[in-house]
Amino acid sequence: MRTELVWEGKYDEFGNRREVDVAACAMPMQKIETVDEPRQRAAAEGQTDMFEQKLMQVRETSPVWPDFRNRLIWGDNKLVLASLLKEFKGKVDLIYIDPPFDVGADFTAKVPVGDATDTVFKDQSTLEIVAYKDTWGKGTDSYLHMMAERLTIMRDLLSEGGTIYIHSDWHMNFLLRSVMEDVFGHENFVNELVWYYCNKMHDIRKPIFPRSHDTILVYSKSRSSERVFNQLKEKRDKPVQQLVRKKVDGRMVNARDEDGNILYKASTMRNIDDVWRISMLQPADKSQNTGYATQKNDLILRRIIEASSNPGDLVADFFCGSGTTGAVAEKLGRRWIMADLGRFAIHTTRKRMIEVQRELHAAGKPYRAFDVYNLGRDERQWWQQERLQGADAEHRRVVLEFFKDRSLKTVSDAGFEYPRKGKYTACIKVVDTFGCDTSASVMVEV
Ligand SMILES: C[S@@+](CC[C@H](N)C(=O)[O-])C[C@H]1O[C@@H](n2cnc3c(N)ncnc32)[C@H](O)[C@@H]1O
Repeated sequence: MRTELVWEGKYDEFGNRREVDVAACAMPMQKIETVDEPRQRAAAEGQTDMFEQKLMQVRETSPVWPDFRNRLIWGDNKLVLASLLKEFKGKVDLIYIDPPFDVGADFTAKVPVGDATDTVFKDQSTLEIVAYKDTWGKGTDSYLHMMAERLTIMRDLLSEGGTIYIHSDWHMNFLLRSVMEDVFGHENFVNELVWYYCNKMHDIRKPIFPRSHDTILVYSKSRSSERVFNQLKEKRDKPVQQLVRKKVDGRMVNARDEDGNILYKASTMRNIDDVWRISMLQPADKSQNTGYATQKNDLILRRIIEASSNPGDLVADFFCGSGTTGAVAEKLGRRWIMADLGRFAIHTTRKRMIEVQRELHAAGKPYRAFDVYNLGRDERQWWQQERLQGADAEHRRVVLEFFKDRSLKTVSDAGFEYPRKGKYTACIKVVDTFGCDTSASVMVEV
């Protein structure tokens, strides 16, 4: 007997813990493009020499520098994680995730159009709709199951000295803490950070203390002495007087002046503790705001990446949203992998990373190229061609499972026409981030 959190789906009918079926989820990714726009543009203009020279100097001091292309992957992260295992098992040094926490909150987005004074609500893609149902179909149970499965694969991707940060708030942090204890073990608990966002507007009519913080849980993969932790400092609000200490005969003692008085010095810096006072991102902050509703302040990621990784280390975010983790990682000389299932998220991140590349290029600083991958398209091909040869029971099962409790009218709204019982060819329309039509046709029997 032990104390544990149990959710529907955690155990099978015989009481055995359900394993994540990694083999069934792993599949090849399709590379869409390599993004290295500033360097290519400079090469086209015959300007590479100076930049290449600088890059060569960095290459000499950093063995991993030229050999790695960062990755941005569009797809459900369960499939993405499973597909990365073969190449990256035990190789990721740091993971930060900021998963959705509230029913549906992260699956719609306002997309700026034209000069960005107007916005439209983006549609959900089929991929997002199915993932939405997977995540929230059975409320908290399916959410916890979704998270536990993904966290289990993330643990396998982490290196022995690796660290994971998981961002949440009062909605889910009490449950996610238990899931983390379950997957990573209590002995690997490192910190519970409080992000105190000092600048949030509050509705003072509510009879509660205004909510002003998120929680970031930190766990290590193991108790390995290889775990990276760089102590960070921040400026004090007011300097404090601190004793001056020195070593005498191997012991630390107070320093004194000639008259025997204890010496003090003004200290302006302090070690950063587990309460982080960082403002929320303001819409007016054009230097980093991408318009992505749940975007986090760069400063949070800067602290996380500086504390728990070194230059050249591999940093990953599998719920990347607007790509804050990659943008900061790139500026700090880390390698990165990011994934998201949202079209708008991938679009925003791609654009943001090109801007970071341009910025670094213009400053004569090195940066890496990145590859954009699409798991959805291969997934379709895998369903249709290699494994299931087109209209197959598995694909039908997924489609019908999703639509089974919907009325025909709703089904028809989603692109299906079933006038009466019979066999139909249904088309799942998916237009991906890059405008490619990746629609799939299936035979459906009603
Ligand atoms: C809170 S946002 C992350 C915001 C991010 N930290 C930033 O600074 O922009 C959560 C993201 O998780 C993504 N997401 C939700 N479920 C997912 C899944 N199953 N696979 C991949 N991404 C998912 C959503 O599309 C959303 O972009």
